[in-house]
Amino acid sequence: MSKITAAITAVGAYVPDFVLSNQVLETMVDTNDEWITSRTGIKERRLLKEPNKGTSYLAIQAAEDLIAKRNLNPTEIDMVIVATATPDMPVAATAVYVASEIGAVNAFAYDLQAACSSFLYGMSTASSYIESGRYKKVLLIGADKMSSIIDYEDRTTCIIFGDGGGAVLFEPNTEGLGFQDEILRSDGVGREFLKIDAGGSILPSSEETVKNKQHFVQQDGKTVFKYAVSNMADVSERIMKRNNLTNEDISWLVAHQANKRIIDATARRMNLIDSKVLMNIQRYGNTTSATLPLLLSDFEKQLKKGDNIVFAAFGGGFTWGSIYLKWAYDSN
Ligand code: UT7
Repeated sequence: MSKITAAITAVGAYVPDFVLSNQVLETMVDTNDEWITSRTGIKERRLLKEPNKGTSYLAIQAAEDLIAKRNLNPTEIDMVIVATATPDMPVAATAVYVASEIGAVNAFAYDLQAACSSFLYGMSTASSYIESGRYKKVLLIGADKMSSIIDYEDRTTCIIFGDGGGAVLFEPNTEGLGFQDEILRSDGVGREFLKIDAGGSILPSSEETVKNKQHFVQQDGKTVFKYAVSNMADVSERIMKRNNLTNEDISWLVAHQANKRIIDATARRMNLIDSKVLMNIQRYGNTTSATLPLLLSDFEKQLKKGDNIVFAAFGGGFTWGSIYLKWAYDSN
């Protein structure tokens, strides 16, 4: 019997309707379109504005998009993973609610948190379950309502992040397509440079933590940028070498959309031409766990069966890595 690999067989996505443009941000904080565009590549981002809707809403919409496109019976899904840094609530995993809402009544579900690398790590987890032979349909969703943890008076963070969700289905493949290799890394040194101070077990929520704005994301952008550039490029170059891939062999780079300059640096190290580098940061900003599946969804029609794709991400923690995958289908 041929070896089972784990292939992505369907994708879905959702972004909220509300658009927050650089021009509107200019009226909110001391910034300007030229600065944001040249330093990050971002032009606008989407925000989930409806009250009482959280990350689960984004995840459900993305999953339902996938289910409809693929004509999938949700009762056949074995497992639902929601990769997110902004769960609906601290306790009661978002994935469990999402699985029930989409009709995945035979699935078990849990959340996976590794900041901006959540979806990349989730690809490793989902693939491993498939390769083990124990499960046949694993739904991996990446969704984040970043607007729930952003201070819209802080120009160093509010210009970067947006809300969104994306989903992929992993299934067994016997043609050698799908997941090929991974290099995943983490380093706790990063916890000082990108974090939310309060609301966890070290500093539980209090009147004081709210007053001090300690429930919002804080980052030392320059330091994070430096680590991101060198680490994301390193693992992407290493995974190419380890798999004897030249720049010609690679069809696409699907990289976390945090900053266009970070993506460009990785592409340069891989010696890739611009047309192989998928980019939608200009429209959505950094949607944390949703960036990779949003790229797959936006560019799905261009992806061809057998294409060699390198995925790369870097995020808080620090967490980072690279995954090499062969695309498994042509979309019509
Ligand atoms: O998703 C995973 C984790 N996150 C990241 O990967 C983010 C990594 N970091 C970055 O993308 C960049 O560091 C930022 C986009 C956050 C900032 O860009 P930068 O080129 O590193 O700018 P900087 O922080 O060095 O700031 C340069 C100047 C400063 O002014 P002075 O000190 O030179 O006078 C800032 O005060 O730009 C100022 N500045 C701004 N100006 C206009 C900072 N934010 C803004 C702003 N608008 N929004």
